[in-house]
Amino acid sequence: MTTLGIETSCDETALALIETRGGAGEKAGIKVRVIDSLVHSQADLHSAYGGVFPTLAKREHGKNLVPLLEKLLRGSGIFSDLERKIDSEIFASHFEKFKKENEGQNPELMASFESADFLRNVPKIDQIAVTEGPGLEPTLWTGITFARMLAEIWNIPLIPVNHMEGHVVGSLFDADAPFGTWQSVKGTNQTNQTEGAIFPALALLISGGHTELVKMSGFGRYEIIGQTKDDAVGEAFDKAARLLGLPYPGGPHISKLAGEARQNNIQPPVKLPRPMMTSGDLDFSFSGLKTAVLYAIRDALSGSAALPGKDSVKDLPTEWKMGLAREFEDSVCEVLKTKTERALDKEEAASLIIGGGVSANIRVREELTNVAKERGIPIFLPSRHVSGDNALMIALASAIHIHASTSQSADAKTPGSIRAHGTKRLGE
Ligand code: KG4
Ligand code: ZN
Repeated sequence: MTTLGIETSCDETALALIETRGGAGEKAGIKVRVIDSLVHSQADLHSAYGGVFPTLAKREHGKNLVPLLEKLLRGSGIFSDLERKIDSEIFASHFEKFKKENEGQNPELMASFESADFLRNVPKIDQIAVTEGPGLEPTLWTGITFARMLAEIWNIPLIPVNHMEGHVVGSLFDADAPFGTWQSVKGTNQTNQTEGAIFPALALLISGGHTELVKMSGFGRYEIIGQTKDDAVGEAFDKAARLLGLPYPGGPHISKLAGEARQNNIQPPVKLPRPMMTSGDLDFSFSGLKTAVLYAIRDALSGSAALPGKDSVKDLPTEWKMGLAREFEDSVCEVLKTKTERALDKEEAASLIIGGGVSANIRVREELTNVAKERGIPIFLPSRHVSGDNALMIALASAIHIHASTSQSADAKTPGSIRAHGTKRLGE
């Protein structure tokens, strides 16, 4: 089964093609091979605004989706497998309907869609998977509208996918394997639950929009047992970075400075809080940490701390910033580690799954790997290059649902209809 994945929940325009086979009843579980995966990041564009500017992000998705799809389809050779060509009049009648509904909101998408001749050829794709949320409403709708148009014009089923479930699934296959190589998706072999069983699993989802501890009894069976009360952990990295004069997205920049501080034995200039670490529950709070960074910088600039007055953050010594970044990262790691341990104390878990953009952080990976090691359970982390948003995880999440269902078409909806998977919608 070939799936086209579409992801536009934030500032990455991402498309992927995967092939899957097998099923829950088979010994090897569900097997997947990546045909191709493309991610167009808008981070440089948003950097000037210090964060994602939704209207700009929506416009960029509208401009980029069609050319990216052409690149994906031509690059994958899927056009050599053309099934049929759509009659121009039929194409026009479908397109006009969408244009009427969407031109006001998405002029860029509509213009590029209309002028793209390759869209008149129907590629050999069995289903289209699109992120339905959570994410930024305007950017999500650009991807959903694009997916609905393709699904209706090509007459291919459309499957809505929860973005956070995508991050879970993104940790269950080896994204470093060369494209085209078949591999089993971890946790999809239901015939032998004792050997290599991963469920029940505890998932820690750490991204720019979410911080969640999730109890997973299987695919689509989720219970959120802890979440942030204010800022997400990635958001805290981004805000702290901005305060330190670092570009968006700030996570990798803070992480780099923190690593340099450790390497050079540079000590933190102040002690930052570990928010809610001793609260006894599984919830998080990161906005106080950002405020503590603000106060530390303010104090340093006003000369009330060890440093004499400086008039702007860029004048603070690099070593001071390194030390603060180190302390910030240590605080986040301690909180994530403690809450994960607490969740593992409370809930039975055969494995630990980490997902979301912050799981690219080396320190976070090390700390959580140690937690799993101490408990004697496997940990599943995404390959670092797919820890951020991508469409592979979206395509795979939908394919797992299809293969795991008894009938291949049980989960496929008629084109254009959108609904959520699972018993619990993550991130809501
Ligand atoms: O999952 P993701 O790509 O997008 C959302 O769904 O939000 O996560 C993006 C977040 C950003 O806040 C970014 O700063 C953070 O992941 N991030 C990191 C690192 N790489 C990305 N945070 C800490 N350390 C990193 N190395
Ligand atoms: Zn994400």
